[in-house]
Amino acid sequence: MKTTISQVGKYTDQEVTIGAWIANKRSSGKIAFLQLRDGTGFIQGVVVKAEVSEEVFATAKSITQESSLFVTGVVRSDERAPSGYELTVTGLEVIHEAVDYPITPKEHGTEFLMDHRHLWLRSKRQHAVMKIRNELIRATYEFFNENGFVKVDPPILTGSSAEGTTNLFHTKYFDEDAYLSQSGQLYMEAAAMALGKVFSFGPTFRAEKSKTRRHLIEFWMIEPEMAFVDHEENLQVQEQYVSYMVQSVLKNCQLELNVLGRDTTKLEQIVGPFPRITYDNAIKFLQENGHEIEWGEDFGAPHETAIAESFDKPVFITHYPAAIKAFYMKPDPNRADVVLCADMIAPEGYGEIIGGSQRIDDMELLKDRFEEHQLSEETYKWYLDLRRYGSVPHSGFGLGLERTVAWVCGLEHVRETIPFPRLLNRLYP
Ligand code: 4AD
Ligand code: MG
Repeated sequence: MKTTISQVGKYTDQEVTIGAWIANKRSSGKIAFLQLRDGTGFIQGVVVKAEVSEEVFATAKSITQESSLFVTGVVRSDERAPSGYELTVTGLEVIHEAVDYPITPKEHGTEFLMDHRHLWLRSKRQHAVMKIRNELIRATYEFFNENGFVKVDPPILTGSSAEGTTNLFHTKYFDEDAYLSQSGQLYMEAAAMALGKVFSFGPTFRAEKSKTRRHLIEFWMIEPEMAFVDHEENLQVQEQYVSYMVQSVLKNCQLELNVLGRDTTKLEQIVGPFPRITYDNAIKFLQENGHEIEWGEDFGAPHETAIAESFDKPVFITHYPAAIKAFYMKPDPNRADVVLCADMIAPEGYGEIIGGSQRIDDMELLKDRFEEHQLSEETYKWYLDLRRYGSVPHSGFGLGLERTVAWVCGLEHVRETIPFPRLLNRLYP
């Protein structure tokens, strides 16, 4: 029976054939242990000299790391094995022999691994990260589909900026200037006026000259947008969504979390509601704890970490000064110098994973903002139309997938959270 490693549990004590690669190998005169991987998982194949043909044992002894082959064997239930199963090998049919695979079981430096990202992805840890990334995406679609949202795809080539002009990726659109999307939000606002509750999931680009463990040049964002939803309701959707994602990973990715050595007790606590703190109080808290920061300044990574350390759950920082936030955020009706917005800061020092807000629904105010931010009204004519024809209170947010993956997996750096990271000095492979 031809099957995959993830399915062997259905064939206990039966003979199966699996297309696989040799991840690693150990052998002595009488026995060889093949660490096999096939993309769906990892399993150990045991080749006992006395039980197989001479040819099969010779192959087991000589086969090189990352060679591909069809492995035939009997599935054994084995409690000690991480997958719960082992394969007693009866046959080996080599497909392709790999010569001098560069990533050996010894330690390699980060730059070397990044140069070999196309191969590094095969490793057990990277495999686990990609599986968890996939589970976060799967849970995202499930959550929004179950809650009445429609998936809408905003364009990637745009004629204007959504999140300020300093980090725009410029390109040409025939004779016109064009930019790669920093955020689909403005288009999602139009979509919310057509479909009510919508979400997008796509790549976004920021030409940021920052070289930190949280910044990618190309990253993937989930952007829900909701008509007739205010700031407070927006926060509730966010805490439900993030709880749902984390609980889905706990339910479906125990093996992967285990490979990564993730402390899952920390993730088990991620259930809404999440704590909230205003920007004003966050500033006070930081000043009382020896940070040099004044009202009106934006938070840096150390500030976010200091605030998050007081909580076991993600925390919302709300009501930032209008002056340090995007042009489209609605001012607090009780206080025009702050806006109805929130950043969600992940626990354990992973920083901001969500930025969101209620949007300005008043046309005149929006026009003033364009002027203040020196944005040409002409470019945003269509966006103003949303306030011209049946304007409604509406809110939304953007969750950065890679920062969420880093947090859930417990990774040091976002470079391991995406298959082929685009970093300040890296476009290869
Ligand atoms: O806070 P940001 O810039 O918000 C927006 O773009 C809004 N338009 C979203 C919306 O309301 N629809 O980005 C949202 C999130 C951040 O919280 C962070 O998780 C992630 O996107 N992010 C990055 N992730 C990796 N590398 C970068 N350079 C990132 N910049 C933002
Ligand atoms: Mg932000």
